[in-house]
Amino acid sequence: MRLKDCHNFHDFRTLAKKRLPSPIFNYIDGGSDDESTYRRNTAAFETCDLVPNVLTGVKDIDLSVTVMGQKLDMPVYCSPTALQRLFHHQGERAVAAAAEKYGTMFGVSSLGTISMEEIAKQIDTPQVYQFYFHKDRGLNRAMMERAKASGIQVMMLTVDSITGGNRERDLRTGFSIPFRLTLAGMLQFAIKPMWGINYVTHERFQLPQLDDHLDMSGSASSIGDYFTNMLDPSMNWDDVAEMVKFWDGEFCLKGIMSREDARKAVDIGCTGIVISNHGGRQLDGSRSSFDQLAEIVDEVGDEIDVIFDSGVQRGTHVLKALSLGAKAVGIGRMYLYPLAAAGQPGVERALGLMRAELERGMKLMGKTSIEQLSTNNLRFRS
Ligand SMILES: Cc1cc2nc3c(=O)[nH]c(=O)nc-3n(C[C@H](O)[C@H](O)[C@H](O)COP(=O)(O)O)c2cc1C
Repeated sequence: MRLKDCHNFHDFRTLAKKRLPSPIFNYIDGGSDDESTYRRNTAAFETCDLVPNVLTGVKDIDLSVTVMGQKLDMPVYCSPTALQRLFHHQGERAVAAAAEKYGTMFGVSSLGTISMEEIAKQIDTPQVYQFYFHKDRGLNRAMMERAKASGIQVMMLTVDSITGGNRERDLRTGFSIPFRLTLAGMLQFAIKPMWGINYVTHERFQLPQLDDHLDMSGSASSIGDYFTNMLDPSMNWDDVAEMVKFWDGEFCLKGIMSREDARKAVDIGCTGIVISNHGGRQLDGSRSSFDQLAEIVDEVGDEIDVIFDSGVQRGTHVLKALSLGAKAVGIGRMYLYPLAAAGQPGVERALGLMRAELERGMKLMGKTSIEQLSTNNLRFRS
């Protein structure tokens, strides 16, 4: 199987699985506990159906949206994800370049492997910086100042990761940073030598958002330790209110799942929220974000930009979320498998297919612009 044979999410996943050592594939592919939320995320889109209109004149389709003050050429953006250079040696550079090509937003993770400054210089499309709340308040402020100085447009504080989810696939393979593989995990690396050659012949693995603050060289530190030792589990609404004020710009919370929290986000001055369960990687058994979308839009949709992610694999999934009132939709694995499968051309192909699916879907729905989508176009099955 080659890139040109990839026509959908599942094809990219199959190719990524072939290319990656299995501990890395399973890190991307896995969810937490029994992975029930992970499975439900995509299944939830099938609880409702699109109801098209016809004969509306759909020669020209405008897919652009404005979200948190940023104009995007299409309503799908690349949600921040960790460790991209482990998946393909081009890492964030490839994903950012592909996002720019499709006129959309790219999120740099706190656990990203290329610096936010480099990406900000590289691309002209809007950039998000995803961060976590550290015990060290000085470090939080320093990170925001760094983001401001590098021209980041949108701050995104992840609030659903106050502790790490229980990823049992990673426990079995020994996946951690630095690697502490089990014997079975090591064997999996040995049978994918191309990945290893690329890994050792490119620049040293780093976490440039955190390198000044985190010692990744000794065996004592790992991402698990970062979560346990540096992040602050006592973080509360007052703390975040202060950060929102300090940033004084577009600020959203990623991982809001309840009406009450959406209301509080408005009250502390956030300009956006991302309804997300982290792609089913955190609290297993939590509701799918699609199932929660309507009631949150109902609560705060007129006051704040409601953004959506988790489980998206198709253009029609995006159209359903937009019909319920989401302003934009984030994808994770949908670009990570293509990255792992083929680097930048892979991500470009995936975003190109997504754009084509959106355009085709809009035409078949009888709509020419995103704001024409509404709950009128959807029926939930009873
Ligand atoms: C491998 C992987 C790494 C991720 N790393 C981060 C991260 O560092 N910070 C964060 O806020 N979300 C992270 N996420 C969550 C994504 O931003 C996004 O919420 C999720 O992938 C959406 O679900 P989907 O993969 O079904 O599209 C990660 C997701 C995956 C799959």
